[in-house]
Amino acid sequence: MLVTGGAGFIGSAVVRLVLGETARGVERVVVLDALTYAGHLANLEGVATDPRYVFVQGDICDRSTVEQLFAEHDFDAVLHLAAESHVDRSIESADAFVRTNVNGTFVLVDVARRAWEAREGGLAARRFVHVSTDEVYGALGSTGRFTEATPYAPNSPYAASKAASDLIVRSYAKTYGLATVITNTCNNYGPRQLPEKLLPLMITNAASDKPLPVYGEGKQVREWIHVDDHAEALWTALTSGVPGESYLFGSDEEASNKEMVERVADLVDSELGRPAGTSRRLMTYVPDRKGHDFRYAIDSSKARRELGWAPKRKLTQALAETVRWYLANAVWRQQVQTEEHHRFQAAYYSKDRS
Ligand SMILES: NC(=O)c1ccc[n+]([C@@H]2O[C@H](COP(=O)([O-])OP(=O)(O)OC[C@H]3O[C@@H](n4cnc5c(N)ncnc54)[C@H](O)[C@@H]3O)[C@@H](O)[C@H]2O)c1
Repeated sequence: MLVTGGAGFIGSAVVRLVLGETARGVERVVVLDALTYAGHLANLEGVATDPRYVFVQGDICDRSTVEQLFAEHDFDAVLHLAAESHVDRSIESADAFVRTNVNGTFVLVDVARRAWEAREGGLAARRFVHVSTDEVYGALGSTGRFTEATPYAPNSPYAASKAASDLIVRSYAKTYGLATVITNTCNNYGPRQLPEKLLPLMITNAASDKPLPVYGEGKQVREWIHVDDHAEALWTALTSGVPGESYLFGSDEEASNKEMVERVADLVDSELGRPAGTSRRLMTYVPDRKGHDFRYAIDSSKARRELGWAPKRKLTQALAETVRWYLANAVWRQQVQTEEHHRFQAAYYSKDRS
């Protein structure tokens, strides 16, 4: 199995799942990751000594690297998670998003298609799972949910680059018969998410008495899925998904950004034994993100019905565990909070972000 982006937040959860206690029958997992600012080997520490695990530092846009990997290994499956993933960064500059998410995905499907056609069993014997987001569907009002039939209407450069990558993958299924499965998922939470994303940023800032910047009035609504439920969803998509199909995976647990920040603030206070309300006083409202989508919500009945998948965790308990994980793992936080990351944070707090 090839896992791209395996040193990131979700990719590393997938690698841990596949090599974990429940035997999945995977002989070898090759992680291809460029180790950008978002990729950290610290995320893979638990599996680094597993004899089935191979790490390759490389760029998915680099065709010769990808070709060499497919020549060395007869992969049965690709789980493609490598991406530029932060919407705010795509608004600052979209170059890297188009490069990695669009061109990189094209290189991967193209090399996979050519390499697998020449192998015994051909394309039909192998699977390419492309991991995408609900943001490709644009924004919802206060009602309704996305389904697999919702037309694509991406609003941010990030979402547009993911939508483009989904369409490239789709075209390789239709044109060549590459056995692809596309998954679209809502906001993930859980351990090992880089503290530039909403929840780990708020947890780490609250713990060190720094401001908790909330965009606009914090009214945007998101659906939240635990990263380990998402990892299990990807395994299910790989093993039971029908080639050529897309599946939406969601938790049915929606909350506004303001509510999520308040919940995290209260959990930090209770974990650190502080008086109630201490961290809420750190909340500061900053100018809204440009083109900020109001609401995303997912109807995951197709995945639940056809794949027998359902999330196991509930937000209330799993969010408390997540907060505890960040507070207990100060070493991990230091390892991933590089100088470059601090520069980004400085820009994030600046009032002059318009
Ligand atoms: N985090 C979420 O809430 C969420 C929700 C839905 C979908 N997704 C999708 O899931 C995937 C993983 O997201 P994540 O949150 O783990 O992201 P992440 O930013 O934590 O990790 C991305 C990984 O990709 C690697 N990478 C980036 N560019 C690369 C390149 N050119 N070549 C090789 N490796 C490269 C990085 O080093 C990093 O390890 C992405 O495709 C993202 O669009 C994420």
